[in-house]
Amino acid sequence: MSPIFFLTLYLLSFTSSVLSTKDDEVVLLKIKKQLGNPDGLRWWVIGFDYCDALANVALENSYITCTSTGRVRSLTLQNLVITTSFPKAICGLTEIQDLYLDHNPGFHGPIPSCITKLPNLRLLIITGTSLSGSVPSFYNHANIIGINLARNQLSGTIPRSLSTCPNLNGLELSSNYLTGTVPPGLVHGSRPSLVLNNNNLTGEIPESYGSVDFQLIVVGNNQLIGDVPFLFGKQKNTVNIELNNNDFEFDLSQVEFSDFIYGFDLSHNKIYGKVPESFAKAAGLFFPNLSFNKLCGELPEGDNMGRFDAAVFSDNACLCGYPLLPCSVSPPAPAPAPVSGPPF
Ligand SMILES: *[C@@H]1O[C@H](CO)[C@@H](O)[C@H](O)[C@H]1NC(C)=O
Ligand SMILES: *[C@@H]1O[C@H](CO)[C@@H](O)[C@H](O)[C@H]1NC(C)=O
Repeated sequence: MSPIFFLTLYLLSFTSSVLSTKDDEVVLLKIKKQLGNPDGLRWWVIGFDYCDALANVALENSYITCTSTGRVRSLTLQNLVITTSFPKAICGLTEIQDLYLDHNPGFHGPIPSCITKLPNLRLLIITGTSLSGSVPSFYNHANIIGINLARNQLSGTIPRSLSTCPNLNGLELSSNYLTGTVPPGLVHGSRPSLVLNNNNLTGEIPESYGSVDFQLIVVGNNQLIGDVPFLFGKQKNTVNIELNNNDFEFDLSQVEFSDFIYGFDLSHNKIYGKVPESFAKAAGLFFPNLSFNKLCGELPEGDNMGRFDAAVFSDNACLCGYPLLPCSVSPPAPAPAPVSGPPF
């Protein structure tokens, strides 16, 4: 073979290796450096092919997928033994759509606001870290569909600006130190979910949520008050509603349970009234909890009542009937007055 052929081959391989030097390599190496070069990222080295799925050698620590043009499309970093702040270089991954930072308990400090400017971001999942400071204020972000910041140390209020993101369909902020009220209109689209349990939220749930057909709404373990029968309803497809350990106060008699509801936890509130007939009829209901409230009166009978045990209804004001004790029959009729008949 002629030397020219070899030269061409050489040039071709050179060109292709230049082309395969992906645009985000420099950014990834910067992220690694900002994380203090953790051992879990040892495969991130100059010239590494981060788009090659087979090169993702330490799946327990990191995983990268790419767009068709070789840019980072998704980045997962998990179980890294690090104690650093959030690597700001992540904001240099300008094509990123999905970012998962899971179970990195040594991560501390704030989540930088530059994250809200990544134009293609769809999913932001940062869970199980020691990150503190406020929830990022995404504003009018067209692509974000899911935000999960559960189990961190975030504080402050839930930013109202989140409600300007037209496609935000799932928002989970549980187990942080959030205070303030629940802003209206946080989630959009079909069957959204809102998960805000284990925080210090106060005030009422905005009534506008009554027109939302949630997949699930979970706000247990806060200090919420007020009246929320509007979350229920015959026409709703909601499968799970958790309101436990708050100060909700409303009349359960006016609530209508749908056939789609699978579980709800209303325990430890100040809910009063009777358990409605629709509770016994809701075909899909398997995990209700009405304990520790102020309910009173006779439980409905029949239909699905057979599958609930007494714990579901315990510690209320005066509930009775199966599976609790029978309602005491009306006070015994007075003993018949002695008949003063003719003496024998
Ligand atoms: C949350 O509320 C509880 C009870 O009012 C209080 O003891 C606790 O300090 C609050 N925590 C935060 C982080 O605000
Ligand atoms: C209902 O909630 C109470 C209080 O949170 C809990 O102790 C109980 O185990 C729950 N019962 C059922 C049946 O889920």
